[in-house]
Amino acid sequence: MASGVWAILKCRAGSFCVSDTGRYKRTMQDHEEQPALSTQRVQSLRSDSQHADEAQPIRHEHKVLSFVRRSGRLDARLQRAWDTYADTYLLPLNAAEGSLDVRQDWRLTPEWIHDTWANDHPLVIEIGTGQGENIIAAAAQHPDINYLALEVYDPGVAHTMLRAGKQQLRNLRIAQINAPELFANADAATVSEVWTFFPDPWPKMKHHKRRIVQPALAEAVHRALVAGGVWRIATDIEDYALHVHEVMDGRDDFENLGEITVSLPTGHVGKGNADLALDMPHADFVESSRFEGRVLTNFEKKGLDAGRVIHDFTYRSR
Ligand SMILES: C[S@@+](CC[C@H](N)C(=O)[O-])C[C@H]1O[C@@H](n2cnc3c(N)ncnc32)[C@H](O)[C@@H]1O
Repeated sequence: MASGVWAILKCRAGSFCVSDTGRYKRTMQDHEEQPALSTQRVQSLRSDSQHADEAQPIRHEHKVLSFVRRSGRLDARLQRAWDTYADTYLLPLNAAEGSLDVRQDWRLTPEWIHDTWANDHPLVIEIGTGQGENIIAAAAQHPDINYLALEVYDPGVAHTMLRAGKQQLRNLRIAQINAPELFANADAATVSEVWTFFPDPWPKMKHHKRRIVQPALAEAVHRALVAGGVWRIATDIEDYALHVHEVMDGRDDFENLGEITVSLPTGHVGKGNADLALDMPHADFVESSRFEGRVLTNFEKKGLDAGRVIHDFTYRSR
């Protein structure tokens, strides 16, 4: 098959196909009868993290995941965006059919960055880009920085590609990958900044271990960051703010660059019990003022509309 021609063999409506060049493409809903060109079909990778906390989390290969995988379809507009832009923006890093792990033969290296962006500009990675508002705005504003969006949720990936395509951004790429897997495959000192804005809150006590900010990720992010590189985090969930402090503040390898003193309860509360935190003992913590590169997303707006306070964090790699 000629290079760049997509292989489509009875791809089910809304599913992924893969070409023999290894690049992924979703099929249009009406591709059921497309002629056979090649064989491998990649099953749909779907998650709906916007409702993650209402769903029972599933276990996958004994890993604790920060998202829930669900079936679902893209509407016609997002499907068109996928078909139009996947070739340009979506990186073929997935290990196998339906996998959100990275391919075993892939590493994030300076050479890979050079090959992907055709330059040696600094790399910023956003974990959980949602609909892509932040990374798109940044990529448009800073053409001399490379941006990599990590998102597992199909509509989020499609929205981000649509926005990038409309603006003809050349410095952005997207990987539909479980973010910790990508950092586990990153060479040391390859990334300038990492962003994690409004991570899924996982409010139930028994689900706190599914929160994406964890010591293992902090270690992997630290290794990937260049000296002096920063991990920016933001959340509108007070209990998550305490969680971030617990994971990050005691680390020798990161310095909290915050300049604001914030009083937080020192104990955790579960889903629906945020009010109980008011009567708990409090302590002072240090946080950052709003990162000026962060635009207002739907997730932040929902938090503000509900009267929640936004917590920003900046941790610099030592
Ligand atoms: C609450 S949303 C916030 C989206 C965006 N950062 C914003 O501020 O609008 C969290 C996002 O993280 C994504 N996510 C959760 N776990 C992830 C993981 N392990 N790897 C990549 N993305 C993940 C979810 O699919 C979801 O889109």
